[in-house]
Amino acid sequence: MKPRQLITVGVVAVATVAALNTVPATASRPYDPTAQSLATLGLRHGLHVGTAVNATALNDANDPQYRRLAATEFSSVTAENAMKWESLEPTRGTYDWTAADQLVEFAKRNRQSVRGHVLVWHNQLPAWLTSGVADGSISKQELRELLRKHITTVVNRYKGKIWQWDVVNEAVSDPWDTPNTLHYKGFWAENLGPGYIADAFRWARAADPKALLFYNDYNIEAFGSGNPADDKTQFVYDMVKGLLAQRVPIDGVGSQGHLGTQYGNFDTLQVTAALKKFAALGLATAFTEVDVRSQMTEGVQAGDSAEINPRLQASAANFSVLMKACLAVRSCLSYTVWGFTDRYSWVPDWFNDPPEGLATIYDENYQPKRAYQEVKSDLIFAGPPYVLPRSTPRPRHREVTAQSLGRSGRMKVLS
Ligand code: G3I
Repeated sequence: MKPRQLITVGVVAVATVAALNTVPATASRPYDPTAQSLATLGLRHGLHVGTAVNATALNDANDPQYRRLAATEFSSVTAENAMKWESLEPTRGTYDWTAADQLVEFAKRNRQSVRGHVLVWHNQLPAWLTSGVADGSISKQELRELLRKHITTVVNRYKGKIWQWDVVNEAVSDPWDTPNTLHYKGFWAENLGPGYIADAFRWARAADPKALLFYNDYNIEAFGSGNPADDKTQFVYDMVKGLLAQRVPIDGVGSQGHLGTQYGNFDTLQVTAALKKFAALGLATAFTEVDVRSQMTEGVQAGDSAEINPRLQASAANFSVLMKACLAVRSCLSYTVWGFTDRYSWVPDWFNDPPEGLATIYDENYQPKRAYQEVKSDLIFAGPPYVLPRSTPRPRHREVTAQSLGRSGRMKVLS
């Protein structure tokens, strides 16, 4: 190589390293990737590593560590509860934006993206709404109009500030529901029929032309039998394909990623295959609520390491499976954990018979667990040719036409 070429190669290499790492290496201080945050390491791949944020913990003056880690380790935040309808409009007609605004401000200060969660869900609805429908004082027609107004109001308030919206959450039943054939379940489907899903995406798009609009659900990490009667991933796949065919402005599918070490779960290749199938529809994907819980046996609670260690290791392996699959698929835009510390996880409150816990990447004292290290190492050791920078879709608009469906059936987006 001629001296000039050598210089060029050297300059490019240094520029690349400088671009990828926030703290460039020097002779006296070699670059140490393990000292970088998950946020920084994720952004090397264009991938946002996010967390759900607990509004009470964020405001706890006695717990600065929570704020610090939420601000520094993650490049994306999601309100764990603050943007849900019962939080925003506890009394009919009166919105309380305090906690939601606070998180959006926090994200701005820390240069983080925001995943909006959630516009339409059957849980955590205000009592005035559910009781009004139950006693007949709110008609079906009025309910539809209330939903339109809610979506429009919330999306409009945060227009331009939300990267991805979970527009519709958990619309599909599980095999353990009755009837056990998968179907559209819950308050909205029961009262408005499944057409509310397309309506919700159209209303959200009308209010914000730029946010990426997601359908979000759990137990869709990998395909199963391929029969939509019992394979939830297949059911959701068919649903979103149908929405696209109706020119509904949906941009992505969020796979929540609530796993448990007591279950079989999936390997990286199975999860990668599922993300790729959604990508082939022209959709972005994201892991939106990752945590991996374990049963808290008497041994675990008594501190028996022979019972604790296998759980921590299995949890780490499952966090890693989802991270590796996400890294492998360019349209997987973000990997969000559902709370980052066992101190504030929803798991012990929710699963208490038998008790479950140990679900997050930091323990109750903010010590990083093996899961944190594994996710970090996935980010450090990933790169070309199998891991490439993210490819972000342009938000879909109504002008997606039948002609824009290519011969492959893939959606080309005109907007
Ligand atoms: O706000 C009340 C408070 O006033 C009261 O004193 C306290 C007493 O228990 O309850 C508080 O409400 C709780 C709320 O979280 C806020 O902390 C509810 O009881 C509790 O049920 C609720 O749990 C949330 C759960 O959604 C409800 O479905 C969890 O924090 C939240 O992590 C969880 O998140 C969901 C996602 O949104 C969707 N996917 C599944 C995920 C896990 O369930």
